[in-house]
Amino acid sequence: MRISDMPIAARLAALGVELRPGVSLAEHTSLGIGGTTDELLIRRYETLPDVIRELKNEGVPYKFLGGGTNVLVADGELPWIVLHLPSTHPGVRVEGNAAFVDAAADLGGTVTYCAKRDLGGMEGLIGVPGSIGGALRMNAGAYGTQIGSYVREVELYRAASGENETLRGDDIRFDYRHTSFAPDDIMLRVKLELPPKPYQEIVAGIRVCNEKRRASQPLNQKSAGCIFKNPQGASAGRMIDELGLKKLRVGDAMVSDRHANFFVNAGSASCDDMLRLVDDVRQRVKKAFGFDLENEVIFWKN
Ligand code: EPU
Repeated sequence: MRISDMPIAARLAALGVELRPGVSLAEHTSLGIGGTTDELLIRRYETLPDVIRELKNEGVPYKFLGGGTNVLVADGELPWIVLHLPSTHPGVRVEGNAAFVDAAADLGGTVTYCAKRDLGGMEGLIGVPGSIGGALRMNAGAYGTQIGSYVREVELYRAASGENETLRGDDIRFDYRHTSFAPDDIMLRVKLELPPKPYQEIVAGIRVCNEKRRASQPLNQKSAGCIFKNPQGASAGRMIDELGLKKLRVGDAMVSDRHANFFVNAGSASCDDMLRLVDDVRQRVKKAFGFDLENEVIFWKN
């Protein structure tokens, strides 16, 4: 969708928003798949309620893009624009045991920044790609750690009120790859409370997780991490592997030969290729094991 020729463009510029026309989401997502649309860069989080009010008044559909590491985007000219908070570096401030982190900060960068200040707990999250905001929304987890355990406060744009608000950690539900945030809430900042630990000890933990990840996941290929959630008591990756589906392909969308729950873009896969592969594998797993696999990756239709 193009809004640069619409009167709203000037009003957004007055709010300090930068409009980038014709951005390819294939270049902004870890899967390397996705069509084209206009992007709004929101540098001042305070302006978000006004920006969204303008878009709603004008009837401009939008989606919010975080780190782009857990999303499968439709191809072609997209019928909505994308809002994005530009990444901040380091985007973290530490005070005692608390870390105040911008949603746009890099998750791995945050883990190491805190480690250097002797705050641990998040070692397992070190290789999870993406932003803090995305990690919060999905309650990112790996190797026994989930980010939700450390959340004490979240500042967010609440779609229900149309305002920025602050929620207490206790008022948010963090489940397996699921949270009680509304789909159109936008994460802005978080306060984490982390256990103190000597830096060397944290680094040793990080090293172990990195090695496990390197040994089992296709880190140098384009993917969005695991494509399906694990059903209770079962492993999607193991089931897909047992069916001999590693390297199964639709166009350039392929089941990884390393970890069967990672579906990779092995060249120039289209969204349609990926969706067909996902459907095919889901049906085979259902037939063989009786599980209805649920997508872990979020799909943005056109
Ligand atoms: N397995 C296979 N073949 C495969 C993949 C896995 O037999 O191709 C077996 C493994 O040998 C192991 C079991 O399945 O016995 C579980 O595999 P793994 O330890 O790799 O964990 P997972 O359940 O597949 C989860 C998360 C990952 C996270 C790892 C490590 C989900 C959907 N995935 O994977 O998170 O990194 O544990 O904690 O919960 C993600 O969220 O995108 C993600 C990659």
